[in-house]
Amino acid sequence: MNNEVNSNELLSLCKRRGFIWPSFEIYGGVAGMFDYGPLGSNMRNNIVEVWRDIYRGREGFIEIDSETVNPREVFKASGHVDEFSDLITYCTKCQSAFRADHLVKEFFDNPDVLSPKELDDAFVKHDIKCLECKGKLGPVEEFNLMFKTTIGPGSSRVGYLRPETAQGIFVNYLNLYRYNREKLPLGVIQTGRGYRNEIAPRQGMIRMREFNMMEVELFVDPTDKGWSRFPEIENDMITLVPNTGTETVTMTVGEAVEKGIIANKVLAYFVYTTQQFLIRLGIDAKRLRFRQHLKNEMAHYAADCWDAEVLLSFGWIEITGIADRGCWDLSRHAEFSGTELTHFKKFDEPKEMEVVRVKAKHKALGPRFKDKAKAIAEMMESKGPSDIKGGKLTLRVGGEDIILGDEFFEVVKVTEKVSGERVVPHVIEPSHGLDRIFYSVLEHSYAYDKKEDYTVLRLAPEVAPIKVGVFPLMEKDGLDDLAKQIYEKIHSPTMEAYYDGSGTIGKRYARMDEVGTPWCITVDYEALSGPSKGTVTIRDRDTTEQKRIPVRSVPNTLKALLSGKSFKDI
Ligand code: GLY
Repeated sequence: MNNEVNSNELLSLCKRRGFIWPSFEIYGGVAGMFDYGPLGSNMRNNIVEVWRDIYRGREGFIEIDSETVNPREVFKASGHVDEFSDLITYCTKCQSAFRADHLVKEFFDNPDVLSPKELDDAFVKHDIKCLECKGKLGPVEEFNLMFKTTIGPGSSRVGYLRPETAQGIFVNYLNLYRYNREKLPLGVIQTGRGYRNEIAPRQGMIRMREFNMMEVELFVDPTDKGWSRFPEIENDMITLVPNTGTETVTMTVGEAVEKGIIANKVLAYFVYTTQQFLIRLGIDAKRLRFRQHLKNEMAHYAADCWDAEVLLSFGWIEITGIADRGCWDLSRHAEFSGTELTHFKKFDEPKEMEVVRVKAKHKALGPRFKDKAKAIAEMMESKGPSDIKGGKLTLRVGGEDIILGDEFFEVVKVTEKVSGERVVPHVIEPSHGLDRIFYSVLEHSYAYDKKEDYTVLRLAPEVAPIKVGVFPLMEKDGLDDLAKQIYEKIHSPTMEAYYDGSGTIGKRYARMDEVGTPWCITVDYEALSGPSKGTVTIRDRDTTEQKRIPVRSVPNTLKALLSGKSFKDI
């Protein structure tokens, strides 16, 4: 077997066996859009379950499911309306559109950091023309990648399909914070669709216009970027490409933090968690590395970012980004919505501190507001100096706005015993491209023997879409009845079984090997009579070894294998 993958062969297997289908094929298809078939859906769900097992199971994070269409305000605040764009050029003759940086990638190491002017100049210098008609390329300009829509009839309420699931978590921060009993760290996960109107999607499932994400947003105290479980992994190895050079270095996670290569322990812990997650899915550790973004490559919201990159037939491809988003998102949403999005950090002991307070001028309030003066004074003193806009305080009293000038209040510095302070949490975000991970797992599991013309997908059992094939040697003499009984007994969403009675046994094994089924049960004549009566064979995909086991122990044997028991130990 060799591991040289031809992505077209793999995609054709995916299509033929029901993993992935190009969308809208009967209408000619749309670039960058794919549907998951029955096996693909199973396998994708299995990947999500491994992710949930780590983040909800091991880490105890909570999961939400938010809207995919969001009002413009959300993405104005997040920066996506102004910043989330790629550079585009149109052919002046045939109007074909191209991603400008892709046209010059053979001349630059990092073409995606070039400015429009630098790209225009590069087109002239390298005599780059339209790839379709050789026409002259027009000026490079920004193209926002979000799909725009309207919410409700008319055009007044602009909305966008979300380009990331993350914002649904940030805008729910207060709900989540209260749910978490106002404590940090607060870990929240969300899986769902994201949408990016890619200029020219290529490379199959690597660049999709509608895609699946698994995102984790971890809110932490900005002054405490440690992680309680860090000691469990600090001596484990990780492969990094820091942004200070282009070299790959392998070191322990602890060393990476000590040397300042990864900025803090919590970021490092989740870089390592991503490595554990991907390897558990079947990504080959030798074809996995973590590359730090260059300063000018980082997304507008990121203070630091590491990409998990895997080596595929297309080269090194990013499949996950682990970013330190700092306080960007909560600060921006607080600013744009006018809602305070903070954490109240209690001190161990109350501290004497100088604080700035709004103080009511009772002598002025009384004569003016009479019996309402007391309520107004109390409300006023619950405000902070940041609530004073243009020298005035606006208070809502009895359903009415009262605007008060500084004749009614003063701002004073006082020394008080303070029990804590408000801080804006920072966010650590492991953001997984589910479709890219799905495709990468397939490439890294794919083994094709050219001489035998035989394909095996060596999928990790917990990821495999079908866990067990169940075959009668012949579809007669009661062999089929027993095989069907076994199938009925074991088949469930977590132990997907596949009954197959047609063709030679060799062909049936081959069909299961090709879709990565780890085990097959065969009911032969020995199962019905003779010394081995009541037993069936179980075959292991990777070794092709076969063993006889009692029919009654089939369910438990399969459960044990799925939980990690080795085939040789059954
Ligand atoms: N939320 C990270 C990303 O959209 O890539």
